[in-house]
Amino acid sequence: MSHPPYVIDQMISAKSIAARIEDLAVEIRDKFKGTDKLVVVGLLRGSFVFIADLVRELDMPVEVDFLEASSYGDGMESSREVRILKDLRGEINNRDVLVVEDIVDTGFTLSHVVNLLKTRGPARLETIALLDKPTRREVDIRATWTGFEIPDEFVVGYGIDYGQRDRNLPYIGKVRFT
Ligand code: IMP
Ligand code: MG
Repeated sequence: MSHPPYVIDQMISAKSIAARIEDLAVEIRDKFKGTDKLVVVGLLRGSFVFIADLVRELDMPVEVDFLEASSYGDGMESSREVRILKDLRGEINNRDVLVVEDIVDTGFTLSHVVNLLKTRGPARLETIALLDKPTRREVDIRATWTGFEIPDEFVVGYGIDYGQRDRNLPYIGKVRFT
């Protein structure tokens, strides 16, 4: 896709993200105490940086799997129609599962994925989202843990893209058209 000219204003620093992940990891370990192997499911592609940092703070046995759902296409607006583009490789029945999402926006993606995975009989299923835009919600869903609540701005960085750009920024920034 073509991008109109824009700049990125930093919203959340790499340092703040790292500090928040340390705190979240403590809560996650606590909640899954006694689990012999947690299945951490990253939603591609936006969660790849977050999941990498998160699992390295989880001082417990984990398996990592990925699922790709698409609701945004390449633009800035959710299509509200969620398709599974790539399914998990492993089974999750009777397993403890943590679904890792980059942003909960309208809520369509996370609720679709949670409903799908619940049909597979996990022993337990919790969710974590790095970012949450509560004012944008159209489906009533909330992640078990949220890194940061943010206003209704289009953000990039730390795995999150604008038309496949800017995933490699180490911080979260908001897109401002110039
Ligand atoms: P939802 O289905 O509307 O909740 O959309 C969630 C997905 O939309 C996220 O996993 C992101 O991939 C994408 N998304 C939502 N907000 C943004 C944003 O500000 N920047 C980039 N992608 C976003
Ligand atoms: Mg996504």
